[in-house]
Amino acid sequence: MKRYSMCALVICVALSYPFASYAGDALPRIVVLATGGTIAGVGATATTTVGYAAAKIGVEGLVSAVPELSGIARVSGEQVMQVASENMTPGDWLALAKKVNRLLARDDVDGIVITHGTDTLEETAYFLNLTVRNSKSVVITGSMRPSTAISADGPMNLYNAVLLAGSAGAQGKGVLVALNDQISAAREVTKTNTTALDTFKTPGMGFLGYITGGQAHFYRATTKRHTSQSEFDIMKLEALPEVHIVYGYAGANSFMLDAAVGKGAAGMVNAGTGDGSMSDVMKAAYREARQKGVIVVRSSRTGSGFVARNGEAKDDEYDFVVAGNLNPQKARILLMLALTKTKDTKEIQRIFMEY
Ligand code: SIN
Repeated sequence: MKRYSMCALVICVALSYPFASYAGDALPRIVVLATGGTIAGVGATATTTVGYAAAKIGVEGLVSAVPELSGIARVSGEQVMQVASENMTPGDWLALAKKVNRLLARDDVDGIVITHGTDTLEETAYFLNLTVRNSKSVVITGSMRPSTAISADGPMNLYNAVLLAGSAGAQGKGVLVALNDQISAAREVTKTNTTALDTFKTPGMGFLGYITGGQAHFYRATTKRHTSQSEFDIMKLEALPEVHIVYGYAGANSFMLDAAVGKGAAGMVNAGTGDGSMSDVMKAAYREARQKGVIVVRSSRTGSGFVARNGEAKDDEYDFVVAGNLNPQKARILLMLALTKTKDTKEIQRIFMEY
């Protein structure tokens, strides 16, 4: 009886937020694309929350574990890959972005939910935020506990992600991340804790809203360009330029940077100390790399805050680019995409300020 009441409530909520194209009582048509991760993970026991095997349960298993989905959406599913997300590659991002673009171009698809490992979820989310050129909803979710654990968080996260993807409020907001009852922007969110359920945060700004009581409630939106306003067209791309990250630390020398440049990196992101600072040794090495044609972006390893031009380095003189408040892993993605269009550092700096 309790379950029936909850479903009835959810159906009412879905109908009060219809897409413009819906006929009367039709529920949104949401495609779930499964990629693996802990949400599809299996542990040896119900208390196994570390040391489990990620990426084991298929999309049918994920969806059928949440029968309540049928009350809020017409859900179809596809297994696009089955990996722990640290194995996700730029080639996988391209393939996924092409698939999402093609699906959203169809009249019979209203939104997409992607299930993903949490370790690199923010990277796939930001890549899609820049390359899905459609204002229909795209929501990424995952879980911190495997499907076999006591209080597994995957089923509720999937339910909330489908609810969010089917809500009018999610359209036009860019790619959204839905975990732990919170809605976050792909550009801003980052994983902050190794194992906690409350791991996804937006340092300094907070999340966009909550999913609670069967509804998505938004309080703010990102101001940066995304999705339908994006200038990046990846549909004909087969590969992305090589861009790597070098971590800053006390006493760092040019060992890692030289290796990356020697291997042919087109761009480098400095995950700098503090406000994107680099040691004198590293500064010299980055200037040498720039003289060889490598694009250099200064970001910060601190986890929050803005790296400003001509602060910790003479960016105008050295011809470096600054990442603003993008973290190093997202600065890498934006630089990869920027390099598909230009090698002009002024133009790349414009891109970093707009996205
Ligand atoms: C992964 O990222 O695939 C494993 C970890 C997780 O999903 O939480």
